[in-house]
Amino acid sequence: MAELYGVYKCNVCGNVVKVNLAGGGNLFCCGQPMVLQRPKTAEGGKEKHLPVLERTPEGVKVKVGSVPHPMEKDHYIVWLEVEVDGCCYQRFFKPGDEPSAEFLLKSEWQPKVVREYCNVHGLWEQRL
Ligand SMILES: [Fe+2]
Repeated sequence: MAELYGVYKCNVCGNVVKVNLAGGGNLFCCGQPMVLQRPKTAEGGKEKHLPVLERTPEGVKVKVGSVPHPMEKDHYIVWLEVEVDGCCYQRFFKPGDEPSAEFLLKSEWQPKVVREYCNVHGLWEQRL
């Protein structure tokens, strides 16, 4: 059964989907079950993936990696999202973009989870 807000990947074609409403079924692509992506929460390789959060007067700025992550054609951050009090703010990227985003938030709103997806290294998550 697909997990609510779970991110699933097809290991054949590379399709990635996020479940926004769990209906109870399983996800298949290319004739195979899609694989739930468990978020990584600790750095391990040369590139840095964990989101870095900075509060700004208007909201919050998120950078992907303590050292900016590569944004090349074959290796880049596809999206990042910030979960705040029942809302989810998401930004999509393409190669060449800067891997950061700023979201306008009320000062009393506290981000709870930041996640990002690298097309090579998968899903990363920072709980706050
Ligand atoms: Fe990466």
